[in-house]
Amino acid sequence: MLVKQLVFFFFSLISQFQKSSSQSLYFIYNGFRPPLTDISIQGIAAVTPNGLLKLTNATTRKTGHAFYTKPIRFKDSPNGNVSSFSTTFVFAISPQLRMLSGFGMTFVVSPKPSLPYAGASQYMGLFNATNNGDDTNHVFAVELDTIPNLEVNDMDENHVGLDINSLISINSSRAGYWDKTGQFKNLTMITSKPMQVWIDYDGLTHQIDVTMAPINEDKPRKPLVSTVKDLSSVLFQDMFVGFSSSTALVIASDHFVLGWSFAVKGKAPPLALSKLPKIPRFGPTKIQSFYKNRLPLFSLVLIPVLLILSIVFLVRFIVRRRRKFAEEIEDWETEFAKIRMKFKDLYYATKGFKEKGLLGSGGFGSVYKGVMPKTKKKIAVKRVSNESRQGLKEFVSEIVSIGRMSHRNLVPLLGYCRRKNELLLVYDYMPNGSLDKYLYNSPEVTLDWRQRFKVIKGVASGLFFLHEEWEQVVIHRDIKASNVLLDAELNGRLGDFGLARLCGHGSDPLTTRVAGTWGYLAPDHIRTGRTTTTTDVFAFGVLLLEVACGRRPIEIQNEIDERVLLGDLVFEFWNEGNILDAKDPNIGSEYDEREVEMVLKLGLLCSHSDPYARPTMRQVLNYLNGDATLPDLSPLDLRGNGMMMLGIHHRVSEFDMSNGASSIVDSVLSGGR
Ligand SMILES: Nc1ncnc2c1ncn2[C@@H]1O[C@H](COP(=O)(O)OP(=O)(O)OP(=O)(O)O)[C@@H](O)[C@H]1O
Ligand SMILES: *[C@@H]1O[C@H](CO)[C@@H](O)[C@H](O)[C@H]1NC(C)=O
Ligand SMILES: *[C@@H]1O[C@H](CO)[C@@H](O)[C@H](O)[C@H]1NC(C)=O
Ligand SMILES: *[C@@H]1O[C@H](CO)[C@@H](O)[C@H](O)[C@H]1NC(C)=O
Ligand SMILES: *[C@@H]1O[C@H](CO)[C@@H](O)[C@H](O)[C@H]1NC(C)=O
Ligand SMILES: *[C@@H]1O[C@H](CO)[C@@H](O)[C@H](O)[C@H]1NC(C)=O
Ligand SMILES: [Mg+2]
Repeated sequence: MLVKQLVFFFFSLISQFQKSSSQSLYFIYNGFRPPLTDISIQGIAAVTPNGLLKLTNATTRKTGHAFYTKPIRFKDSPNGNVSSFSTTFVFAISPQLRMLSGFGMTFVVSPKPSLPYAGASQYMGLFNATNNGDDTNHVFAVELDTIPNLEVNDMDENHVGLDINSLISINSSRAGYWDKTGQFKNLTMITSKPMQVWIDYDGLTHQIDVTMAPINEDKPRKPLVSTVKDLSSVLFQDMFVGFSSSTALVIASDHFVLGWSFAVKGKAPPLALSKLPKIPRFGPTKIQSFYKNRLPLFSLVLIPVLLILSIVFLVRFIVRRRRKFAEEIEDWETEFAKIRMKFKDLYYATKGFKEKGLLGSGGFGSVYKGVMPKTKKKIAVKRVSNESRQGLKEFVSEIVSIGRMSHRNLVPLLGYCRRKNELLLVYDYMPNGSLDKYLYNSPEVTLDWRQRFKVIKGVASGLFFLHEEWEQVVIHRDIKASNVLLDAELNGRLGDFGLARLCGHGSDPLTTRVAGTWGYLAPDHIRTGRTTTTTDVFAFGVLLLEVACGRRPIEIQNEIDERVLLGDLVFEFWNEGNILDAKDPNIGSEYDEREVEMVLKLGLLCSHSDPYARPTMRQVLNYLNGDATLPDLSPLDLRGNGMMMLGIHHRVSEFDMSNGASSIVDSVLSGGR
């Protein structure tokens, strides 16, 4: 280091001294940062903001030049001998494609500070097709050639050559250097790595030496290429020094000069290597550097992260969806596979079981309106929660078998679905809703007597079907106005058959629960907990009275919460001698008095407290169709049991009844009640 500084100091002295006698004796550029003086840039050459002299860019088939603009006095007199001169520079070549380059660069000494007629590609910005090899060129150059061109006897794709007036080098060598141990080391020029070149001419011996080494290596003692040639005939007294470069037809390289110094009659001052600008770290062009350098980095870090993230999201999505649409299927259900429905379909059909589609809620669950996506068929979906799975299998097989046997007075069951603690039953949507909406509390729309009688007959035939016409006896267990639905032609259809069984089923008679609706429960049912066809008939009787009277089965009469059973009320009218006074004033004026009277009496008979006194559904149907006439009953015939009905009256008021008729009894009966 000290030696270098001393040499430099010594140099400066000499140059200072010589400056007085000649025009320009030395200069030094440790980078080409602005303000850049005395350098002219031509062609596609440019200076980058960080101070790199960039001779070429990605433009193909173009030349780039940079010249020191002041003339250099090479000879003391016009016909004198060329003085010793020396130059050193650091360069780097960045190929656009790995290991492919075009075309190389040169250090050039030329009569003018430009080479306007020089060609691109293999001419390297020095000559053209006509003047190549012409002695009148007066051009001396050192080429750093990265393309083998057989036309000019190039040795390989990575060589250094001495050129005088011609691209055919007078001596050349593959790029490299002799290290301190005397070994020759190859240097590949197109690796974007900065390398240093020294060119020295001895004015006395005419020795021309070209030496190169990787940056930060000291100048090797042994030159790479040398020759003995008197340049006095080649160079004029005043010449210009600079660099030329060219790009090829399809491929181009970025040729950079990082620093440069020059001296006549002395050694070129050493460059301050640490001050030189850095060449762009990642390749010459943005796209290339992205693909070549950043993409591996990205793919190493980003792609696995993205992959993991997307997998996590996907798994979460699938798990959530699975959980959301999870169903339960057991072995015994395989025979019902045909009518089993997917929860997902029902979810979409009802738009996610939104409040908006809620038709109503009862003791077993809520009913939602929906539209099947494919068939556009309107459906009603009942969600029944069943924590205890007691009797589920029997229930499902029963409703499925009934659903299969379509009857015009039953609400068709389209299918079912089972999830954890939940059963979904899918019914035909009944456009006119349930019967209760037409009966109580002065409704907006009511039914006239003919319509009511039609509904009654329909319900009777539906219940008769369940009791006697179906292959096994099916007890409905929950006959009431809200379970009678009206189809488009206002036919009465029974819904919710068998549902009460889900709640009321049990093997131990002592713990069997009573399920049904207050007001419709037969006294024998409450006493024993047993349901029979006669308990259905009892409830049907209450329904008859409801339809004829337009009143709820149990009505709260005054402030002290006294409850009156509809049966007692009708019974009292009958006892007073005018049973027709019990009829609903809303049934209109056109009605058959005998029919209304018959329905009222039949209602009382059916809701007889003695199960053996109740008619069967076959008999009921005969009475309603006029195929048989009701036996001539008097209030006295039912009186003896009237006490029984009043007894229920009192019992009912013992229970907490929050919601009139639509409340479910779910109490364990202790024996002996
Ligand atoms: N298939 C259907 N078509 C149209 N509306 C229906 C259908 N099924 C039920 N609904 C409506 O949904 C409401 C609620 O029915 P839900 O069966 O849940 O209660 P409920 O009949 O009052 O009591 P329960 O639980 O004892 O049957 C009914 O009142 C009726 O208006
Ligand atoms: C190369 O440089 C020239 C001159 O600076 C410019 O006009 C041209 O657009 C550049 N080409 C590319 C590909 O950068
Ligand atoms: C040039 O050098 C030669 C010897 O190589 C010498 O004879 C000659 O005088 C020199 N010419 C001048 C002008 O110095
Ligand atoms: C080649 O360069 C010379 C000048 O050196 C010029 O006169 C000539 O026209 C050029 N030829 C072509 C083909 O460009
Ligand atoms: C240097 O390069 C030449 C030709 O390119 C090759 O034959 C030789 O083996 C190389 N030497 C080393 C040490 O890589
Ligand atoms: C070419 O250069 C080499 C290496 O410096 C040298 O050994 C050889 O003699 C030179 N050949 C000519 C013709 O100058
Ligand atoms: Mg119902």
